[in-house]
Amino acid sequence: MLKSFNFETALCLFLIIISSGECGMPVKVRNCPGENPKASLAAVYIENCSQEPCVFRKGQNVTMEMDIELNEDVKSLKARLYALVLGVPVLWDGVNPDACQDIISDEPKCPLNSGDYFTYGVNLYVSPVYPTITADVKYMLLDEKQRTQICWIVKASVKPA
Ligand SMILES: *[C@@H]1O[C@H](CO)[C@@H](O)[C@H](O)[C@H]1NC(C)=O
Ligand SMILES: *[C@@H]1O[C@H](CO)[C@@H](O)[C@H](O)[C@H]1NC(C)=O
Repeated sequence: MLKSFNFETALCLFLIIISSGECGMPVKVRNCPGENPKASLAAVYIENCSQEPCVFRKGQNVTMEMDIELNEDVKSLKARLYALVLGVPVLWDGVNPDACQDIISDEPKCPLNSGDYFTYGVNLYVSPVYPTITADVKYMLLDEKQRTQICWIVKASVKPA
């Protein structure tokens, strides 16, 4: 089900070739242990990050996008972002919990159907009060029944501005 090469990727590669840089490459993320996400994650893009660890500068908004294909109908999607500090999940409030509002592709919008393919995108605000640490960041999208539709982990290094 994984779409590893779609129009967006093709456009991205084309833009890299002609402009050398401006367009991001997908980053390889990891599965969440113990989770069985229902949706298929085609690609994750994190600004200035093509491999772990992603560097998050304090006071910056980091653009993050995911290409997602659903394998069942969902009415709504809720975003949950955690930093795993010494293995303990700490909620990171830098993201809008109503993920339906952050679907950036034109169509479809919530409620969504099985087979729908869309792009979700947010700006993650890296607050200056966050500790300067390297930690796993866990990103989840839950549906209205609290089932895990998307879950992935990437290592991030929070650095001073
Ligand atoms: C980050 O985004 C917030 C709200 O979207 C905005 O107020 C702020 O100016 C942005 N900061 C930077 C450094 O772009
Ligand atoms: C990404 O890199 C560019 C160029 O080095 C820089 O101007 C920009 O602030 C970086 N963005 C983030 C979120 O760190």
